[in-house]
Amino acid sequence: MIDIEKCRITRYPADVLARRAQLVEKIDNNIRQLVEKMTNIMLENKGIGLAGPQVGVALRIFIISLDATKEAVKVYINPTVTPTDELDSMDEGCLSVPGIHTKIRRYKKCKVTATDLNGNEFTEEAEGLYARCLQHEYDHIEGMTIADRMGSAAKIAHRKQLKKLRENHEKPAKE
Ligand code: NI
Repeated sequence: MIDIEKCRITRYPADVLARRAQLVEKIDNNIRQLVEKMTNIMLENKGIGLAGPQVGVALRIFIISLDATKEAVKVYINPTVTPTDELDSMDEGCLSVPGIHTKIRRYKKCKVTATDLNGNEFTEEAEGLYARCLQHEYDHIEGMTIADRMGSAAKIAHRKQLKKLRENHEKPAKE
């Protein structure tokens, strides 16, 4: 049972962001409530994607809404994301790694297969921002963030902010 009330944005270098998430075994009310909570958190923070580990839930689930509206929210449960094209580099940010926008290399196109909230499996081909977003969220359920993906030059350029995030993480929570 996931305690939905306790779901909060997790930030680098939280453990839950560095672990491979577990399969969702059953799509029940608890999962539906989790999706609602994730949707609210994502929209409040003007994000276009959010994964379970980013709200402290180590499950293989993420949501995407490319125009940041509630209507466009799509749910991906136990997804697989397979790249189908060459690499490209673009600026990215992440709600779990605040204060950092940096070039990340991703595949230009990918294929996603996942289960929706009704338990139906679907497959889609994605490109552009959608493909990038799928790969970013998939990284989260594999235990990786842009802090791990960024190149060594970017790590140096953003070292102060990364250090600040690590220091904030060590402080006792204020909430
Ligand atoms: Ni992210």
